Amino acid sequence: MSKVITSKANLDFGIENLAPMETPGCILMVKPTYFSVDYVINPHMEGNVGNVDKEKAMQQWEQVRDALGQSGLTIHELEGASNLPDMVFCANQSLPYVDDDGTREVIMSIMDSDHRKNEVPLIEEWYQEHGYQIHHLNYKKIPRFEGMGDALWHRGKKLLWGGYGFRTSLEAYHFISDTYKVPVIALKLKHPEFYHLDTCFCVLDSKTVLIYPEAFQPKGLNLINTMFERIIEAPKSEALEQFACNATCPDGKHVVIQRGATETNRKLREAGYEVIEVDTGEFLKSGGSVFCMKMMAW
Ligand code: ARG
Repeated sequence: MSKVITSKANLDFGIENLAPMETPGCILMVKPTYFSVDYVINPHMEGNVGNVDKEKAMQQWEQVRDALGQSGLTIHELEGASNLPDMVFCANQSLPYVDDDGTREVIMSIMDSDHRKNEVPLIEEWYQEHGYQIHHLNYKKIPRFEGMGDALWHRGKKLLWGGYGFRTSLEAYHFISDTYKVPVIALKLKHPEFYHLDTCFCVLDSKTVLIYPEAFQPKGLNLINTMFERIIEAPKSEALEQFACNATCPDGKHVVIQRGATETNRKLREAGYEVIEVDTGEFLKSGGSVFCMKMMAW
Protein backbone atom coordinates (compact mmCIF):
# COMPACT_ATOMS: atom_id res chain seq x y z
CA MET A 1 0.00 0.00 0.00
CA SER A 2 1.34 3.39 -0.93
CA LYS A 3 2.47 5.82 1.71
CA VAL A 4 2.71 9.42 0.56
CA ILE A 5 3.14 12.01 3.30
CA THR A 6 2.27 15.65 2.63
CA SER A 7 2.07 17.01 6.17
CA LYS A 8 3.53 16.32 9.58
CA ALA A 9 0.12 15.09 10.76
CA ASN A 10 0.57 11.93 8.63
CA LEU A 11 4.21 11.37 9.52
CA ASP A 12 4.36 8.24 11.64
CA PHE A 13 8.08 7.40 11.48
CA GLY A 14 11.43 8.98 12.16
CA ILE A 15 14.75 8.53 10.36
CA GLU A 16 15.70 5.84 12.88
CA ASN A 17 12.76 3.64 11.77
CA LEU A 18 13.72 3.64 8.10
CA ALA A 19 15.28 0.62 6.44
CA PRO A 20 18.79 1.13 5.05
CA MET A 21 19.36 1.38 1.32
CA GLU A 22 22.61 0.74 -0.52
CA THR A 23 24.12 4.00 -1.75
CA PRO A 24 24.62 4.30 -5.54
CA GLY A 25 27.82 2.86 -6.95
CA CYS A 26 27.93 4.48 -10.37
CA ILE A 27 27.15 7.69 -12.18
CA LEU A 28 25.58 8.08 -15.60
CA MET A 29 26.31 11.18 -17.69
CA VAL A 30 25.23 12.28 -21.18
CA LYS A 31 27.80 14.17 -23.29
CA PRO A 32 26.73 17.71 -24.24
CA THR A 33 27.58 17.33 -27.96
CA TYR A 34 24.05 18.42 -28.89
CA PHE A 35 23.35 20.63 -25.87
CA SER A 36 21.82 24.04 -26.63
CA VAL A 37 18.93 26.25 -25.60
CA ASP A 38 16.42 25.88 -28.43
CA TYR A 39 13.13 26.56 -26.59
CA VAL A 40 11.91 28.01 -23.30
CA ILE A 41 10.35 25.62 -20.76
CA ASN A 42 11.56 27.26 -17.55
CA PRO A 43 12.20 30.91 -16.61
CA HIS A 44 16.00 30.49 -16.65
CA MET A 45 15.94 29.71 -20.39
CA GLU A 46 14.29 33.02 -21.28
CA GLY A 47 16.62 35.21 -23.31
CA ASN A 48 19.07 32.35 -23.80
CA VAL A 49 17.78 30.71 -26.99
CA GLY A 50 20.73 30.23 -29.34
CA ASN A 51 23.06 31.60 -26.70
CA VAL A 52 25.11 28.53 -25.70
CA ASP A 53 28.85 28.36 -26.39
CA LYS A 54 29.14 24.65 -27.28
CA GLU A 55 32.88 24.42 -26.89
CA LYS A 56 32.72 26.01 -23.47
CA ALA A 57 29.82 23.72 -22.53
CA MET A 58 31.92 20.66 -23.42
CA GLN A 59 34.83 21.90 -21.29
CA GLN A 60 32.53 22.66 -18.36
CA TRP A 61 30.90 19.24 -18.65
CA GLU A 62 34.32 17.55 -18.59
CA GLN A 63 35.19 19.55 -15.47
CA VAL A 64 31.99 18.36 -13.77
CA ARG A 65 32.73 14.76 -14.80
CA ASP A 66 36.25 14.94 -13.39
CA ALA A 67 35.01 16.51 -10.15
CA LEU A 68 32.41 13.78 -9.73
CA GLY A 69 35.13 11.25 -10.45
CA GLN A 70 36.90 12.34 -7.25
CA SER A 71 34.25 10.42 -5.35
CA GLY A 72 35.78 7.22 -6.75
CA LEU A 73 32.47 6.10 -8.30
CA THR A 74 32.46 4.64 -11.83
CA ILE A 75 31.20 7.06 -14.48
CA HIS A 76 29.36 5.81 -17.57
CA GLU A 77 29.30 8.28 -20.47
CA LEU A 78 26.44 8.17 -22.97
CA GLU A 79 26.18 9.95 -26.31
CA GLY A 80 23.39 12.50 -26.67
CA ALA A 81 21.07 12.80 -29.66
CA SER A 82 20.99 15.56 -32.25
CA ASN A 83 17.47 16.91 -31.75
CA LEU A 84 17.39 16.53 -27.96
CA PRO A 85 19.30 19.53 -26.58
CA ASP A 86 18.25 18.90 -22.94
CA MET A 87 19.22 15.23 -22.81
CA VAL A 88 22.45 16.22 -21.06
CA PHE A 89 20.28 16.73 -17.95
CA CYS A 90 20.12 13.01 -17.34
CA ALA A 91 18.75 13.25 -13.79
CA ASN A 92 15.33 13.78 -15.31
CA GLN A 93 14.35 10.74 -17.41
CA SER A 94 14.28 8.07 -14.70
CA LEU A 95 14.29 7.06 -11.04
CA PRO A 96 16.43 3.98 -10.33
CA TYR A 97 16.26 1.87 -7.16
CA VAL A 98 18.03 -1.13 -5.66
CA ASP A 99 16.28 -3.73 -3.56
CA ASP A 100 17.71 -5.52 -0.49
CA ASP A 101 18.63 -8.54 -2.60
CA GLY A 102 20.48 -6.38 -5.14
CA THR A 103 17.69 -6.36 -7.75
CA ARG A 104 17.91 -3.12 -9.69
CA GLU A 105 14.74 -1.45 -10.89
CA VAL A 106 13.91 1.79 -12.64
CA ILE A 107 10.78 3.86 -13.20
CA MET A 108 10.93 5.79 -16.47
CA SER A 109 9.71 9.40 -16.56
CA ILE A 110 6.92 11.06 -18.49
CA MET A 111 8.42 14.42 -19.40
CA ASP A 112 6.16 17.42 -19.04
CA SER A 113 7.30 19.07 -22.26
CA ASP A 114 6.97 17.43 -25.70
CA HIS A 115 10.45 18.77 -26.47
CA ARG A 116 11.93 16.29 -23.98
CA LYS A 117 9.73 13.18 -24.32
CA ASN A 118 12.03 11.38 -26.80
CA GLU A 119 14.94 11.45 -24.34
CA VAL A 120 13.28 8.80 -22.19
CA PRO A 121 13.52 5.73 -24.49
CA LEU A 122 17.20 6.51 -25.17
CA ILE A 123 18.02 6.51 -21.48
CA GLU A 124 15.87 3.40 -21.06
CA GLU A 125 18.21 1.53 -23.44
CA TRP A 126 21.06 2.01 -20.98
CA TYR A 127 19.00 0.45 -18.17
CA GLN A 128 18.05 -2.42 -20.46
CA GLU A 129 21.68 -3.10 -21.29
CA HIS A 130 22.54 -3.02 -17.59
CA GLY A 131 19.91 -5.56 -16.52
CA TYR A 132 17.44 -3.29 -14.73
CA GLN A 133 13.80 -4.28 -14.26
CA ILE A 134 11.93 -1.47 -16.02
CA HIS A 135 8.61 0.11 -14.98
CA HIS A 136 6.49 2.56 -16.95
CA LEU A 137 3.92 4.95 -15.58
CA ASN A 138 0.39 4.97 -16.96
CA TYR A 139 0.25 8.41 -18.57
CA LYS A 140 -3.56 8.44 -18.43
CA LYS A 141 -3.38 8.43 -14.64
CA ILE A 142 -0.07 10.19 -14.19
CA PRO A 143 0.45 12.97 -16.72
CA ARG A 144 3.96 13.94 -15.66
CA PHE A 145 6.96 12.73 -13.68
CA GLU A 146 10.49 14.03 -14.18
CA GLY A 147 12.58 11.41 -12.42
CA MET A 148 15.41 12.58 -10.20
CA GLY A 149 14.72 16.19 -11.08
CA ASP A 150 11.91 15.87 -8.52
CA ALA A 151 12.35 12.52 -6.76
CA LEU A 152 15.39 12.39 -4.49
CA TRP A 153 16.56 9.55 -2.26
CA HIS A 154 17.38 10.22 1.36
CA ARG A 155 21.01 9.12 1.52
CA GLY A 156 21.36 5.52 2.65
CA LYS A 157 17.68 5.16 3.60
CA LYS A 158 14.52 3.80 2.01
CA LEU A 159 12.86 7.17 1.87
CA LEU A 160 12.06 9.24 -1.17
CA TRP A 161 11.61 13.02 -1.16
CA GLY A 162 9.24 14.03 -3.96
CA GLY A 163 8.73 17.52 -5.34
CA TYR A 164 5.52 18.26 -7.23
CA GLY A 165 3.55 21.11 -8.73
CA PHE A 166 5.46 22.02 -11.89
CA ARG A 167 7.02 19.01 -13.66
CA THR A 168 5.65 16.12 -11.60
CA SER A 169 2.11 15.32 -10.50
CA LEU A 170 1.48 14.17 -6.95
CA GLU A 171 -0.15 10.91 -8.17
CA ALA A 172 3.23 9.73 -9.45
CA TYR A 173 4.38 9.26 -5.86
CA HIS A 174 1.56 6.81 -5.06
CA PHE A 175 2.71 4.59 -7.92
CA ILE A 176 6.37 4.92 -6.89
CA SER A 177 5.63 4.20 -3.25
CA ASP A 178 3.64 1.08 -4.25
CA THR A 179 6.20 -0.16 -6.75
CA TYR A 180 9.33 0.33 -4.65
CA LYS A 181 7.58 -0.17 -1.29
CA VAL A 182 9.07 2.97 0.19
CA PRO A 183 7.46 5.94 1.90
CA VAL A 184 7.49 9.22 0.01
CA ILE A 185 7.50 12.65 1.60
CA ALA A 186 5.92 14.93 -1.00
CA LEU A 187 6.80 18.63 -1.05
CA LYS A 188 4.80 21.14 -3.07
CA LEU A 189 6.96 23.64 -4.95
CA LYS A 190 5.74 27.18 -5.25
CA HIS A 191 8.10 29.23 -7.46
CA PRO A 192 8.51 28.59 -11.22
CA GLU A 193 12.23 29.43 -10.91
CA PHE A 194 12.51 26.45 -8.55
CA TYR A 195 10.53 24.11 -10.78
CA HIS A 196 12.27 20.87 -9.80
CA LEU A 197 12.98 19.72 -6.26
CA ASP A 198 16.68 19.49 -7.13
CA THR A 199 16.77 23.27 -7.65
CA CYS A 200 16.05 23.93 -3.96
CA PHE A 201 16.82 20.73 -1.99
CA CYS A 202 20.03 18.71 -1.89
CA VAL A 203 20.52 15.77 0.47
CA LEU A 204 24.17 15.82 1.58
CA ASP A 205 24.15 12.87 3.98
CA SER A 206 21.54 11.06 6.06
CA LYS A 207 21.39 13.91 8.58
CA THR A 208 22.04 16.98 6.47
CA VAL A 209 20.24 18.81 3.69
CA LEU A 210 21.02 21.99 1.76
CA ILE A 211 17.86 23.96 0.90
CA TYR A 212 16.47 27.25 -0.32
CA PRO A 213 13.59 27.56 2.21
CA GLU A 214 11.46 30.08 0.27
CA ALA A 215 10.80 27.50 -2.46
CA PHE A 216 8.59 25.46 -0.09
CA GLN A 217 5.19 25.74 1.54
CA PRO A 218 5.19 25.86 5.38
CA LYS A 219 3.95 22.22 5.51
CA GLY A 220 6.89 21.02 3.46
CA LEU A 221 9.39 23.06 5.43
CA ASN A 222 8.02 21.57 8.61
CA LEU A 223 8.60 18.04 7.25
CA ILE A 224 12.15 18.89 6.20
CA ASN A 225 12.87 20.37 9.64
CA THR A 226 11.52 17.26 11.33
CA MET A 227 13.49 14.71 9.32
CA PHE A 228 16.92 16.35 9.09
CA GLU A 229 19.16 17.10 12.05
CA ARG A 230 21.15 19.73 10.17
CA ILE A 231 19.80 22.18 7.60
CA ILE A 232 22.09 24.41 5.57
CA GLU A 233 20.31 27.31 3.90
CA ALA A 234 21.40 28.92 0.65
CA PRO A 235 20.64 32.64 0.28
CA LYS A 236 18.23 33.69 -2.48
CA SER A 237 20.83 35.15 -4.85
CA GLU A 238 22.98 32.01 -4.72
CA ALA A 239 20.00 29.64 -5.03
CA LEU A 240 18.79 31.58 -8.06
CA GLU A 241 21.96 32.71 -9.82
CA GLN A 242 24.41 29.94 -8.95
CA PHE A 243 21.84 27.16 -8.54
CA ALA A 244 23.60 26.46 -5.21
CA CYS A 245 21.06 23.80 -4.18
CA ASN A 246 21.62 21.94 -7.44
CA ALA A 247 24.92 20.79 -5.98
CA THR A 248 25.63 17.13 -5.45
CA CYS A 249 27.30 15.09 -2.77
CA PRO A 250 27.97 11.69 -4.35
CA ASP A 251 29.76 10.17 -1.35
CA GLY A 252 28.58 12.09 1.74
CA LYS A 253 31.88 14.05 1.84
CA HIS A 254 32.62 15.93 -1.39
CA VAL A 255 30.15 18.56 -2.55
CA VAL A 256 30.40 19.50 -6.22
CA ILE A 257 28.78 22.90 -6.72
CA GLN A 258 28.65 25.84 -9.12
CA ARG A 259 31.49 28.28 -8.53
CA GLY A 260 30.79 31.54 -6.71
CA ALA A 261 28.11 30.51 -4.22
CA THR A 262 30.31 32.12 -1.54
CA GLU A 263 28.03 32.02 1.48
CA THR A 264 26.72 28.51 0.77
CA ASN A 265 30.23 27.22 0.24
CA ARG A 266 31.43 28.79 3.49
CA LYS A 267 28.59 27.07 5.37
CA LEU A 268 29.35 23.75 3.66
CA ARG A 269 33.04 23.96 4.59
CA GLU A 270 32.15 24.88 8.18
CA ALA A 271 29.96 21.80 8.31
CA GLY A 272 32.97 19.68 7.30
CA TYR A 273 32.33 19.05 3.59
CA GLU A 274 35.05 19.21 0.97
CA VAL A 275 33.72 21.71 -1.55
CA ILE A 276 34.68 21.30 -5.20
CA GLU A 277 33.70 24.38 -7.21
CA VAL A 278 33.03 23.98 -10.93
CA ASP A 279 31.74 26.31 -13.62
CA THR A 280 28.43 25.23 -15.17
CA GLY A 281 27.65 28.68 -16.63
CA GLU A 282 26.52 27.37 -20.03
CA PHE A 283 24.12 24.91 -18.38
CA LEU A 284 22.70 27.53 -16.02
CA LYS A 285 21.36 29.21 -19.19
CA SER A 286 19.08 26.18 -19.53
CA GLY A 287 18.05 26.05 -15.86
CA GLY A 288 20.36 23.27 -14.73
CA SER A 289 23.66 22.73 -12.94
CA VAL A 290 25.68 19.91 -11.38
CA PHE A 291 22.97 17.76 -9.83
CA CYS A 292 20.87 17.38 -12.95
CA MET A 293 23.86 16.70 -15.21
CA LYS A 294 24.17 13.16 -13.84
CA MET A 295 22.22 10.16 -12.65
CA MET A 296 23.29 8.16 -9.62
CA ALA A 297 22.66 4.48 -10.27
CA TRP A 298 23.71 1.00 -9.19
N1 ARG B 1 16.18 22.90 -19.72
C1 ARG B 1 15.91 21.78 -18.87
C2 ARG B 1 14.45 21.73 -18.52
O1 ARG B 1 13.85 22.77 -18.33
C3 ARG B 1 16.75 21.84 -17.63
C4 ARG B 1 16.59 20.67 -16.72
C5 ARG B 1 17.45 20.77 -15.51
N2 ARG B 1 17.21 19.70 -14.63
C6 ARG B 1 16.97 19.76 -13.34
N3 ARG B 1 16.77 18.67 -12.72
N4 ARG B 1 16.88 20.88 -12.69
O2 ARG B 1 13.84 20.69 -18.45
